[in-house]
Amino acid sequence: MGSFTPKQSLTVLDNRTGNSYEVPIKNNAIQATAFTQMKATPQAVFGAQDRPEDETEKGIRVSDSAYTNTAAVTSSITFIDGGRGILRYRGYPIEQLARKSHFLESAYLLIYGELPTAQRYDAWSNEVLHHTYLHHDVEHVMSSFRYDSHPMAMLISGFAALGAFAPEANPSLQGQNLYSNAAKGNVEALAQMDKQIMRLIGKAPTLAAATYRNRQGRPFNRPPTGLSYSGTFLYCLDQLSEHQYKPNAVLERALDILFLLHADHEMNCSTATMVHVGSSLVDPYSAVAASCAALYGPLHGGASEAVVRQLIDINGPENVPKFIEQVKRKERNLAGFGHRVYRTTDPRSTIIREVAEQVFSVTGRSKLLDTALALRDAAEKDDYFKSRNLHANVDFFSGIIYQQMGFPLDFYPVLFAVPRVVGWLAHWRQAMLSPSQRIWRPKQIYIGASERDYVDVKQREEAREPKYGSGPVSVAHGGDSKRRHLATYLDETGKLHARSKL
Ligand SMILES: CC(C)(COP(=O)(O)OP(=O)(O)OC[C@H]1O[C@@H](n2cnc3c(N)ncnc32)[C@H](O)[C@@H]1OP(=O)(O)O)[C@@H](O)C(=O)NCCC(=O)NCCS
Repeated sequence: MGSFTPKQSLTVLDNRTGNSYEVPIKNNAIQATAFTQMKATPQAVFGAQDRPEDETEKGIRVSDSAYTNTAAVTSSITFIDGGRGILRYRGYPIEQLARKSHFLESAYLLIYGELPTAQRYDAWSNEVLHHTYLHHDVEHVMSSFRYDSHPMAMLISGFAALGAFAPEANPSLQGQNLYSNAAKGNVEALAQMDKQIMRLIGKAPTLAAATYRNRQGRPFNRPPTGLSYSGTFLYCLDQLSEHQYKPNAVLERALDILFLLHADHEMNCSTATMVHVGSSLVDPYSAVAASCAALYGPLHGGASEAVVRQLIDINGPENVPKFIEQVKRKERNLAGFGHRVYRTTDPRSTIIREVAEQVFSVTGRSKLLDTALALRDAAEKDDYFKSRNLHANVDFFSGIIYQQMGFPLDFYPVLFAVPRVVGWLAHWRQAMLSPSQRIWRPKQIYIGASERDYVDVKQREEAREPKYGSGPVSVAHGGDSKRRHLATYLDETGKLHARSKL
């Protein structure tokens, strides 16, 4: 060790060839493309173990199927230290922002990098709240859904529909570099981008409220003037014919804090979707619709709902020990516990616990709270959870708050999507402003069949034991009847068919 000189690099020895490579390290990361120089002659040493499809002569590929150790972006927006339970927006600890800031101010911070001056904030909030109105025809789109449609299905469609009303914001119509020209110092491109950002943040709560009102068969509310962002949302959800309707101030502030906590969480599934889809230079309305679809999945935006369903199912603190034993036997998952990044308490869950008390002071205490607290305490003490670093995450208490505020269970992902629009757009803007922005196109490791010749249909044989999933499974058709199955029909050529076998 005496002659060892530390260097910001890796030395990689390729044991196939004996060649050695030096790979630079920057920000504790290496470029995956550095491995493409590590080429070998196909089949020279390993023969049949090396297939042509392995493309050995093109250099080593880096495999990481769930992006568990792949940094797909370089970002200045949000920092998470999962081991120490740290979350910062642009360097500011989330705890300070939750106490001192509010949603629209933190949205500005996330998107533009600095806390706004009073003057900048006024201009920003005026612009965003000015854009809360929906085009009359978008309201028609939203009211065309059936009363029992899932609110996320409506919200995803609503975001995509907005794009149809903004042809001037569509790179397919206006030129593909409509936004990416901003990276070259083009102020018009920057202005075009910021206008869509304000429009999308402004319209998100109005669209979300439309999904809620449509299910109730109630007309959509025009966004009010003079209320905060979360106040505007509550007004659009709830106002009927009352004059000077004002949402409860405690609930308005609680929702604002929840929005702030949910605004960004770096490269989560839906934000990665935004940057991925946006990398094709599609319009931001389509990209936000795609991100919203990613968030709809139960592994992402669905956990707060799962927590409440779980608490209802446990049915009282006395049943917690039995439930914990089921989790330890791997018969059940403890929703609201554990996180891919946090290996200690999610800092957002601590703040949310305080918000819950504020909400309960006006709504009354949730009947589920005692069960939740008993569950959290039992899990925190138990070796199963301790040894796996499983702690309460952001969703453990947020669902109880939403429930106590009277939101339907399937509306919880909507309450997550509305503020996350900010994070999606912050990352989209960062990407469009990056001179190195390129279309995202991951590689694959091909392990399928090598080249083979087409077989005529007459020569094909049914496998004696077909491989699982190797053909379509026969499916039942809704509304089908025995009468239809027994019927016959003629095709366009006049050939007679029996419909199908029962
Ligand atoms: C969030 C989550 C998907 C992260 O998954 P992950 O990073 O892949 O975690 P792992 O699967 O590596 O978990 C490690 C171990 O803890 C266990 N574990 C993780 N989360 C658990 C949970 N919520 N309940 C019970 N066991 C859990 C796993 O079974 C695994 O056990 P093993 O080592 O005996 O196989 C997972 O913790 C989870 O399902 N949580 C509940 C859903 C939830 O609240 N999601 C919202 C996240 S904000």
